[in-house]
Amino acid sequence: MRKTVAIDGPAAAGKGTISKAVAQHFGFAHLDTGLLYRAVGAKVLQGIDPVEAAKALTAEDLEADNLRTPEVAQAASKTAVVADVRAALVDFQRAFARRAGGAVLDGRDIGTVICPNAEVKLFVTASAEVRAERRYLELSGKGHSDTREEVLADVKARDERDMNRAEAPLKPAEDAVLIDTSDLSIEDAVAKAVAAITAKD
Ligand code: DC
Repeated sequence: MRKTVAIDGPAAAGKGTISKAVAQHFGFAHLDTGLLYRAVGAKVLQGIDPVEAAKALTAEDLEADNLRTPEVAQAASKTAVVADVRAALVDFQRAFARRAGGAVLDGRDIGTVICPNAEVKLFVTASAEVRAERRYLELSGKGHSDTREEVLADVKARDERDMNRAEAPLKPAEDAVLIDTSDLSIEDAVAKAVAAITAKD
């Protein structure tokens, strides 16, 4: 089945968890498009030009072990405003979306720009406080020393930049199904996503 599921939303809303779970449920391939921007951001922190980095991105770059740090997240969000960086990443994402067995892509502009014809579009969100608390727990679990306040400020700064940029800003597609995970367990959030995807059969 060639079905494309586009899942967008702000940082730490639960997109990644939901995307992995629904990909597994339906047997679709999954692409976390944030990793592309994080890999470019990590290169920029090493002094490489963002557009050159985006054009030369390889599969190994997506496996670098520092991509989940707050520094790389901010660098990713900053490079993601550059139109030529975004343009360099479009073909790869669209080719992935057209995989024969079905594909789930999660990011910020999948339903609006990358796959406007996706069969299913979800917009996963949650309050900034809930998202910051989740990210704080994730980071402190990995030994990072960032405080709750720092993590909340980081989340808000990224929301602000991602939603207000000129190029492919974060916003729900007109036909997206909204899922607010603020008060949902992971199981309930995944069940809502599965139901929304099944409903589009
Ligand atoms: O989903 P994430 O937190 O890994 O994304 C990191 C940054 O990359 C995010 O703050 C904005 C950017 N991004 C984007 O602009 N478009 C996407 N499709 C995915 C991520």
